Amino acid sequence: MASRSQINGLRVAVLTGGGDCPGLNAAIRSVAKTLMLTANAEIIGIEDGFLGFIERRVRTLSYQECSGIQSLGGTIIGTNNRANPFDYKGQDCSAQVKQYYDELGLDALVVIGGDGSLSIGYELTKLGMNIVGVPKTIDNDLMCTERTFGFDTAVSIVTEAIDRLRTTGQSHKRIMIVETMGRNAGWIALHGGIAGGADSILIPEHPYDIKQVAKVCQERMGALHFSIVVVAEGARPADGDICVRETISDSPEPKRLGGIGEQLKHELSTYVDAEIRATTLGHTQRGGSPTSFDRIFATNLGSYAARLVASKQFNCAVILKGNQLSHVPLERVANKTRFIPDDDLTLQTAVAMGICFGTNALKHPNISTTNEPE
Ligand code: F6P
Repeated sequence: MASRSQINGLRVAVLTGGGDCPGLNAAIRSVAKTLMLTANAEIIGIEDGFLGFIERRVRTLSYQECSGIQSLGGTIIGTNNRANPFDYKGQDCSAQVKQYYDELGLDALVVIGGDGSLSIGYELTKLGMNIVGVPKTIDNDLMCTERTFGFDTAVSIVTEAIDRLRTTGQSHKRIMIVETMGRNAGWIALHGGIAGGADSILIPEHPYDIKQVAKVCQERMGALHFSIVVVAEGARPADGDICVRETISDSPEPKRLGGIGEQLKHELSTYVDAEIRATTLGHTQRGGSPTSFDRIFATNLGSYAARLVASKQFNCAVILKGNQLSHVPLERVANKTRFIPDDDLTLQTAVAMGICFGTNALKHPNISTTNEPE
């Protein structure tokens, strides 16, 4: 495969790493099309994330293959969240990865990934690989960027699920618990909970007091005869631990979370005299077609990354700040998590509206007395 077919053009590889998310194909498409147009580039798709680099599985992506894929969920080149070249089945394969990068004659690699993949990307830059990162993850928890693509679609799926759970919960006069993904950050739960009208939203950033949650459920049952509680998979009771669904030892992120919805149901049942049902949304939040927002956002991010490559600006990640795209050194994004700060606008709105977070730590926010200057 892979000979330098475009005279004087760049040779750029692209991979999607970590858990998939809606918008990956839109990003691949814009990386490829922008580079083909602006740098006469040949685009090499690395199959199944860093695993394809380790196992030497790559293919040239044609213009046709990258066309019209913005509406497709998943990723046309596959992904993997277990293959870390620095620790693959107990071996450090990073030197082989660098050697293969050189053999392929690559000018750069675009890594479309979350913190795990961008952290690996950062380590590979130290071996001399030219890397540009594009932030993706439904969790919205990447450092330096105000948003990642995939998040909007996940929130819309949570919202629709809550809308459906509301009518059945109302009909049966039940407490409906909805468990969302998001790892150790509560972004999906917070935004999905607000959009779906939850009475309580439990997030990892603030361990919950079950008695406070039970009190709100009891009040809602008395007044409206049903209640909706959204709980992030990484949430935990103030006196307990997070729920780990599975430990995958060879993964860069070994702990897979899950099970807090059912646990909360049992905890609540000792305090509230009502029927309770728990629904775990799981991977439905990651599958299927991206929203138009995620398609456009992923397209903008991918094209910006391509322009960075074309202008030979490497070892950085594209970010969104103040509604503008820019880029920061990969080092600033690697190995970090962006949690919901207490002064987050949406969190403050939720607190001001009386939504229960199961904690006294969040204070009713004051509005600043300073107006926007004219
Ligand atoms: O990071 C994305 C994510 O969907 C998290 O929200 C979730 O905790 C995790 O991936 C699930 O991973 P897996 O698909 O390996 O079960």
